[in-house]
Amino acid sequence: MTAWQAYELMQVEKGKTIFISGGTGSVGAMAIPIAKSLGLTVITNGSAENEKRVRALGVDRFIDYRKENYADILTDIDYVLDTLGDKELENEFKILKDGGSLVSLRGLPNGGFAKRMGMPFFKRLAFGIVGKKYDKLAAKRNQQYHFIFVHEDGEGLKKISDIFAEKQVQTSLDEIFSIDDVNKAMKKVASGRSRGKTIIKIS
Ligand SMILES: NC(=O)c1ccc[n+]([C@@H]2O[C@H](COP(=O)([O-])OP(=O)(O)OC[C@H]3O[C@@H](n4cnc5c(N)ncnc54)[C@H](OP(=O)(O)O)[C@@H]3O)[C@@H](O)[C@H]2O)c1
Repeated sequence: MTAWQAYELMQVEKGKTIFISGGTGSVGAMAIPIAKSLGLTVITNGSAENEKRVRALGVDRFIDYRKENYADILTDIDYVLDTLGDKELENEFKILKDGGSLVSLRGLPNGGFAKRMGMPFFKRLAFGIVGKKYDKLAAKRNQQYHFIFVHEDGEGLKKISDIFAEKQVQTSLDEIFSIDDVNKAMKKVASGRSRGKTIIKIS
């Protein structure tokens, strides 16, 4: 749903290119196949040991972040899906083309986010101030900065399940924990080294 909502905001068009930062993680495991099903060329970065797995999901170009910096080699990218936040946002804007669109899952929320969420005026104002740094950065080259927090959407979920069925996309699962091991599951997720979704089984 996160990836889908990001692509809707970007208004992605078939044939264009997206960079998904840290696409070897749990978000990437869904964002990559969905981007491919929408006809996008997908570039991502991550650790070398995860390259084969994300290539199998459809990645067209893989960058090992321990060896190469994507900011030195990519330019004119149409869309960026950011999963790394503040530490990478400036570089991600750098590789984005003029007029391109960036959606962050981890950056600062901005006024646009508050408006979309239907927040009252004072909250819009507060978020407008918080997210100004990236709105200003985006405005320099006519780019767009969006922050999202995934929200429930039955219709979107139906569309995604149709894509997964039609394109025979596999869901990437990392580990399944019982509800008694919820703390172990949370610890694993917090480590930032997931290879797909972490499931808590409630029986
Ligand atoms: N706003 C929202 O609605 C929303 C929704 C979902 C998730 N999120 C957020 O999105 C972020 C990512 O979620 P996730 O579930 O995908 O996390 P995850 O499963 O823990 O994956 C994180 C990935 O980041 C990669 N990574 C770490 N440092 C990197 C670097 N310097 N350069 C490139 N890649 C790097 C890791 O790659 P390697 O393991 O290959 O080294 C790992 O695959 C989290 O902060 C999460 O809270 C937000």
